[in-house]
Amino acid sequence: MEQYVIKGGNPLVGDVTVSGAKNAALGILAASIMTDESVLIDNLPDVKDINVMLEAIQEIGARVDRIDRHTVRINGSNIKEVSVDDEFIRRIRASYYFIGALLGKYKSAQVPLPGGCNIGSRPIDQHIKGFRALGAEVVIERGAVIAHAIDLVASHIYLDVVSVGATINIMMAAALAEGQTILENAAKEPHIVDVANFLNSMGANIKGAGTDTIRIRGVNKLHGTEYSIIPDQIEAGTFMCAAAATRGDVMVRNVIPKHLEAISAKLMEIGCEVIEFDDAVRVVGKPNQRHTDIKTLPYPGFPTDMQPQMAVTLALANGTSMVTESIFENRFKYVDELARMGSNIKVEGNVAVIDGVKGFTGAQVNAPDLRAGAALVIAGLAADGYTVVDEIGYIQRGYECFEEKLQGLGAMIERVDSDREIQKFKLRIG
Ligand code: EPZ
Repeated sequence: MEQYVIKGGNPLVGDVTVSGAKNAALGILAASIMTDESVLIDNLPDVKDINVMLEAIQEIGARVDRIDRHTVRINGSNIKEVSVDDEFIRRIRASYYFIGALLGKYKSAQVPLPGGCNIGSRPIDQHIKGFRALGAEVVIERGAVIAHAIDLVASHIYLDVVSVGATINIMMAAALAEGQTILENAAKEPHIVDVANFLNSMGANIKGAGTDTIRIRGVNKLHGTEYSIIPDQIEAGTFMCAAAATRGDVMVRNVIPKHLEAISAKLMEIGCEVIEFDDAVRVVGKPNQRHTDIKTLPYPGFPTDMQPQMAVTLALANGTSMVTESIFENRFKYVDELARMGSNIKVEGNVAVIDGVKGFTGAQVNAPDLRAGAALVIAGLAADGYTVVDEIGYIQRGYECFEEKLQGLGAMIERVDSDREIQKFKLRIG
């Protein structure tokens, strides 16, 4: 099993360029099959979840031409199958976007129910509520979501929970439903806006994405388009926290600073210098960073996907910080791993009480999920001595060239898959 081996203690310094947003790209790739014309998408992040999604799109009969690592042409005119294959699609949660896309275009879809994952149960009741409101019959049978509709008709839908996935899924199904659908209590994340912009570039009529009320006036069909994915807000935030935790000085390029406001605000609160440019943000860490409190909230609140990375930064700040995880019920699994490096964190329900410590010492740790894995890498970069992070497959699901980008900032990190390689790294680094 591949691992990262890290020699910590070096402040990260230099420039890093952010890739396309994984969570926008997953919705956009699903929506790309809603037309029989060709769709050209660039600035795709070259990460595992995207590549699995492309395999699944090919599996149902769409034509997928990979122009280069970050560019793909998709043509959904030959799709024969509205039942998505288990093998590929069960591996990623975003499989549920096929329901909205296939239901919208073919009025029928059969997709394996996405498994839970390490951060919580991840129900999809709000997605199903939306599809039923649009006139679909939806049942769960033999582990799959089966949806059919004679016709999809507009509806006034109020989400009981602010859900990114449900917002995107309902937007797709409603894009080809008759009449104007009003979706209230919608999620407002940047990736919601990106998917709405993508659908509109295909001829959809969606207004209000980015606010909590989205109006979708159904159209008869969607046409081809060319589209570029927005930069990844969470990848950018991850490098910003890495700069803060290692007391470095990093220019994070190819970002939309507005999307990072909640993260920048918190880093400034603890004493970092954060300078915004048109499409870049510079973070300068300071020796004595202060404690602060974090509560994860739907956008524009502090993103739950940045909670582990910020917690590691606070674990190395002076004083006591409170981190409240209000989105997922099980997103503190990294705390036990961090304790092995000398952190002092107590978890009580959905609150982590973090007593900052002077520093971490390197240890062998396990990545419990994607963002926690990235947070443990940040901890290893800040720690004194060697850290080995196991289960890095999680990290590769959402971060393109993670170790190379960190090496570009002076990090001593390598991907290895044997103890022998770890020893060779230690001998070489000394
Ligand atoms: C998306 O997951 C992201 N994944 C997650 O990022 C992110 O953490 C999450 O949004 C919140 O921002 C993708 O975009 C592929 P939700 P999603 O529906 O859509 C509850 C990462 O690290 N809920 O907004 O599944 C749910 O249990 C991943 O890139 C329902 O109760 O999240 C959660 O408590 C991790 N019923 C809350 O809503 C539903 O039908 C928010 O979930 C749907 C959700």
